[in-house]
Amino acid sequence: MSQSDLLRPNLPEQGSIEHISRQEARIPVPEAFAAQANVTPGQYAEWYRESIESPETFWDARAKDFHWFQPYHRVLDWQPPFAQWFVGGQTNLSYNALDRHVDAGRGDKRALVWEGEEGEVREYTYAQLLDEVSLTAAALTRLGVKKGDRVTLYLPMIPEAVMAMLACTRIGAPHTVVFGGFAAGAIADRMVAAGSEFVITADIGQRKGEPLPLKSVVDEAIKLAEEQGQAVRGVLVVRHTGSDVTMQPGRDHWWHEARTDEREDALPLDSEHPLFILYTSGSTGKPKGILHTTAGYMIGAALSTYAALDLKDHDLFWCTADVGWITGHTYSTYGPLLLGQTTFMYEGAHNYPHWGRFWDMIGRHGITILYTAPTAIRSFMRHGDDTPAEYDLSSLRLLGSVGEPINPQAWHWYHRVIGAERCPVVDTWWQTETGSIMLTTLPGAHPAEPGTAGVPMFGIDPVILNREGEEMQADEGGFLTLRQPWPSMLRTVYGDDERYAKTYFGEIDGVYFAGDGARRSEDGYVTVLGRVDDVLNVSGHRLSTAEVESALVAHPQVAEAAVVGKPDEMKGESIFAFVLPQEGQTPDPQELRQYVSDLIGKVARPDHIVVAPALPKTRSGKIMRRFLRQIAAGKSIEGDTSTLDDPSVLERLAATPVE
Ligand code: WT7
Repeated sequence: MSQSDLLRPNLPEQGSIEHISRQEARIPVPEAFAAQANVTPGQYAEWYRESIESPETFWDARAKDFHWFQPYHRVLDWQPPFAQWFVGGQTNLSYNALDRHVDAGRGDKRALVWEGEEGEVREYTYAQLLDEVSLTAAALTRLGVKKGDRVTLYLPMIPEAVMAMLACTRIGAPHTVVFGGFAAGAIADRMVAAGSEFVITADIGQRKGEPLPLKSVVDEAIKLAEEQGQAVRGVLVVRHTGSDVTMQPGRDHWWHEARTDEREDALPLDSEHPLFILYTSGSTGKPKGILHTTAGYMIGAALSTYAALDLKDHDLFWCTADVGWITGHTYSTYGPLLLGQTTFMYEGAHNYPHWGRFWDMIGRHGITILYTAPTAIRSFMRHGDDTPAEYDLSSLRLLGSVGEPINPQAWHWYHRVIGAERCPVVDTWWQTETGSIMLTTLPGAHPAEPGTAGVPMFGIDPVILNREGEEMQADEGGFLTLRQPWPSMLRTVYGDDERYAKTYFGEIDGVYFAGDGARRSEDGYVTVLGRVDDVLNVSGHRLSTAEVESALVAHPQVAEAAVVGKPDEMKGESIFAFVLPQEGQTPDPQELRQYVSDLIGKVARPDHIVVAPALPKTRSGKIMRRFLRQIAAGKSIEGDTSTLDDPSVLERLAATPVE
């Protein structure tokens, strides 16, 4: 990351986010909600104080709710930047999410309600889900999966995805879920990086009525991984649509055949046993394998679901995130199940077969808490108030937002049209790395400020710093950092402790550096201003500019590429690529889009392409992205252009058509 990039939060460029310049009036907590909330203002204040002043006492008390095969002897061992939590203890997340509830006589309670894109519904009680997971865990064991082996999951949003995750954690085999929108090359890279010899997938998925050929993408990914020296020993295939797929004898096994009547018990695992690896984009082209471990993640997921999302016994909770992302791990799957509550899962697209699909499901199932992304809210908003008005949304009692800053306009629409001004709206800031929610307003304790995430969760000590590590004044923009370790924090970048230390604790000495810019009000509300590094947030999906660039330059007609984010009303940011052709070549933008899509996946497809006559570089050859961001945003050039080798490039670029 360069010095100039690090200075960005003082001059935020995300023009579409109007909350940067204005402070919104706060919306009080509705009395009826406060009266029943899991966490009251007094409780928050007391717990928060304790969690900061004596974190070990606080977390020790929270850990008591869980089953331990062996008690820990120490709550925290902090050797910056490496933390160990609940040291010496043995537990199991799958046991705590399933067996614990069944043992307590809650086996008949619904754990999971699922709806497919075509409307079919399946439900599982805790006893049924435990059974499914135990059968799956036994099948994995017979396949040769052992404690510590990394298992790649490439699955649609079907109940088997939840079963597969819990089956892996049951036997201590860390899962690494790859989002269904990624292409074979991206899966292969992750399998190689994780050294993963096992895959769980499905024959075919479905999106907007169109089939997604998951198994054949996995076959291609395995071929690519094997070319890079990664052996693959077993593939478990869920028969979802019943389509024809090629099964390689000895390697590929049907889910329904591999599972017999054998059941596998939960294995006692060290608190710090690797739970899962989730790849996410950083500032370089190489995705980072974020490693989470067992006990700390478990406790962070459960406590945040309880406090920020207010889950209770009568709730039907719907977090719309795909299990391919951290939100789908923590809040579609683990958090609600750890609390013994009911999670709802939907397979398909938000606007299939029509724009009322979400509201129809909320009405039919009686969903009480909805947790979704601003990009979805904005697209519903664009389709008007009439569609949601046709459905019964009266079951809803709480609304959540996650993944990117929510602009006040979308916040108010969500609050008014979906929540009928009755439901609090919580805007939750966190990251793949943090494992669970870090900043929000607790729905029964804090008034919400549209566009501002809010106050810290228990044990979280946010501080806004400048480059030198000095604290900024109230309301001044700076870098968002966290001063204290917390249980659900990442433990490392898988296989790369050095990258972990450098990326997260090396930018500003001694504190966790989130990569976001933020400011904090006098009374402690934190407003997140967006990324300060070369990470894009496109419709809540995280991508690195370098990843897209390396895909573009792999094209034979492309000599160089520079990718920046362009503020976008719907997506938050869109992908803007400047492409310098090889001499004598004129690459076709449409073909380049397809090329990137084939290499990384649809999520990385550039929205705008300029086939550039030249790129703005310093005399030492560094591309000046600052200017490219301005050109992409259609703004006039601001800042010192004298360091450029040829400042006239900027004018020529601005005059080149965007395709
Ligand atoms: C980045 C993390 C949190 C799970 C989903 C995304 C941005 C996330 C918010 C929010 C402002 C947000 C940040 C963060 N972000 N939530 N409520 N307000 N920005 O996880 O893929 O790891 O991305 O998403 O820039 O650093 P992720």
